[in-house]
Order: sequence, then C-alpha cells, then structure tokens
Amino acid sequence: MNSDTILILGYGAMASAIAQGLNGKYSMEICGRDRRKALDFIAKLDLQNTTAPESKSVDFASNPHAINIQDKILLLCVKPYALASFAYLGQAKAVYSVLAGISIEQIATHIHATAYVRLMPNIAALHGLSATTAFCSVGTASMISAQEKREPHMDLPDSQACSTAVEQTDSLSQQLEQLKRQAQEICQGFGEVVFVENERLIDSSIATSGSAPAFLALVAQALVDSGVMVGLSRVDSRTLVAQTFVGVGELLRHYGPQELIDRVTTPGGTTIEGLAVLESSGVRGAFMQAAKASVAKASATNAPNHSCTSAQPHAPTIQNTTDSQKTLVPKEPNHE
Ligand SMILES: NC(=O)c1ccc[n+]([C@@H]2O[C@H](COP(=O)([O-])OP(=O)(O)OC[C@H]3O[C@@H](n4cnc5c(N)ncnc54)[C@H](OP(=O)(O)O)[C@@H]3O)[C@@H](O)[C@H]2O)c1
Repeated sequence: MNSDTILILGYGAMASAIAQGLNGKYSMEICGRDRRKALDFIAKLDLQNTTAPESKSVDFASNPHAINIQDKILLLCVKPYALASFAYLGQAKAVYSVLAGISIEQIATHIHATAYVRLMPNIAALHGLSATTAFCSVGTASMISAQEKREPHMDLPDSQACSTAVEQTDSLSQQLEQLKRQAQEICQGFGEVVFVENERLIDSSIATSGSAPAFLALVAQALVDSGVMVGLSRVDSRTLVAQTFVGVGELLRHYGPQELIDRVTTPGGTTIEGLAVLESSGVRGAFMQAAKASVAKASATNAPNHSCTSAQPHAPTIQNTTDSQKTLVPKEPNHE
C-alpha cells in the first residue's frame, strides 16, 4: 500500500472509475458537498482503507465546505463550475484535475499545492480502459515565489548565479520525472496514459479521446441501424458492431488506419463500394470539423476571462470583487 493519502473530491462517474482503479493501492478519502453520498459511494464500490471526512461549513454564501488537503494528493472529480464550491485548507502534495476546460493557472488560484496535473480521461475509464492525456507541472503557485527567491541571485557573481540556476533546473526536472511516475501509476488504474508537453494539448485530446467515444457511438448507432435495415435483428446487429469495435481497437495497435483499410478493401470488391459513398458524403471532413468544434468549445471555456466560481449555475454573473478581478461565471451546462 502506498503511503500517500488520496483525497477524491466528487463521487460521480469519473470519481467512481478512478476510485476503483486506486482501490487497495492507496488510503483514500472521499469528499463532496453531501457526505451521505460520499458514504454511499464508499459502500457501493466496497472501497478499502477509505473514509468520508466531515466537511465543515465555514461561510455558506461563498465557501460552503472546507476540506483539509494538507500533504494529500487531491483528485478533483467534480463538475468544472464546482471548483470554487469548496475551501481548500492547507497545501496538497499534488493536485490532479479531470475538470474539462479549467487550466492549471485557474486551479492554482483556488488550491495551494507543490505540483499540478491536468488529466483528460474518457468514459471508458468506467471499465479501466480510458485513453487519458496528462500534463504535469511542478509548483505552479510556488513558481511565483521561486521566481522571487531567485532575485537575490542577481547580486551573486555570474558563475555562482549560473550554477544555482542549473541546480534549480536539475531539481525541477527530477521533481517532474517523479510526478510523471506518480501520474502514470494513478492513471494506469483506469486505462492508458499519454503525457503531453504543452497544457493546450489536453484540450486538443478532446478530439482523439475525450469526446471521441460519443463520435464513435454515433458511428456504432448508424452501423446497428444499417444491420437492421438489411435484415439483422437489432440485438444481433448490436452484438456484431460491438465486437467489431473491440476487434478494430486491437487491430489499430498493430496497423495504421490506412493499412487496416487496405487489408479489408479488395480491388473491385464490396468494401470499396461503401467507402466511395462515405467519401462522397464528406464523412472524413465532417469528423474533423466536429473534433475542431469540440476543442474550440473547451478553449473558449478556458479563456482567461472565463473563470470558475461557486456562483449559481445557469446564470452567468460577474464575481463581486474589485474591478480588475471581475470574472465571468460560466453557465453550468457549458461543461461536460
Ligand atoms: N464523464 C466523462 O466522460 C469525462 C471525461 C473527461 C473529463 N470529465 C470531467 O470529470 C468531471 C466529473 O464528471 P462526471 O462525468 O464524473 O460527472 P457526474 O457523474 O455528473 O459527477 C459530478 C460530480 O460533481 C459534483 N458536483 C456537481 N455540481 C456541484 C456543485 N455545484 N458543488 C459541488 N459539487 C458538485 C457532484 O456532486 P453532487 O452529487 O453532490 O452534486 C458529483 O460528485 C467533470 O469536471 C468533467 O469535465 C468527464
């Protein structure tokens, strides 16, 4: 059993997938705005070494719930707009967030931690088969203070300042490698992970994996209907399509998509007839446009003036702070 405690904030679908992957490997705490739901969640999933600490009411108007994150690994699994529904007490060892469209910079304004990781899992996490992207960042909030600490080095002789900077860079890259190992271990509990070097690419992976299950479900639905249209029962058609998806998933591990098409397409045969219809309908372009639209939506959510708060859902409001701090509150349904 790992010595770290993982605090999962949320008890919905994604929290469930992640908690099952970590069950028995870490001590866990489940928190949310309703402790009863957290307790039910623990019982239903039969989570070992897991508790649901009381969350204390501090100031119901702005921060209804306070949670102790000191020295824990915090996993944010609530809806994106719920980030500010909680007061985070202390400094976490690391914060992992699956919140679509919420940047590390935005998270760091609410939560102190020495490391931040953004994840983009997909719904297949429910069966331990998520295709997840991860972006790791060591000490976003503390970077600012590190920057301040570095200033005195400007007074040092050049070579001394230079070697101090090199030591700091070495130490940061070691911390980053350690963080990646931890992230890999956590993410492998619910699927496979690909690390990206630029946070922007987390949103990009909505195209390939985040939203892709819905795109592919549309294809599956069309194929099931096609089977019914040509005489198969709906049950048989669905079984055949599901197994075809499993088979294609495995084949794609061995062959590129074009090679796969080549292997199925006999010259002058049946498959090329169908492919010609799909190409003339612009299916490939439609998929690319759809993916682009989904990614653009996430980027718009992530825009600097589009921050998350605990304000009422469905009603976009301006947060009541100073003029320079005013932020637009997103409508609840904008987030997945
Ligand atoms: N599902 C996916 O395929 C997928 C993929 C990638 C990323 N994500 C991300 O995963 C996160 C969770 O999604 P999900 O699919 O697990 O959703 P879900 O099953 O609907 O669960 C939502 C969770 O958020 C909490 N919550 C909602 N509104 C809240 C509020 N105002 N204050 C406090 N807590 C609130 C809910 O607690 P209550 O029951 O107490 O409201 C629940 O624990 C989202 O941020 C989403 O962007 C999901």
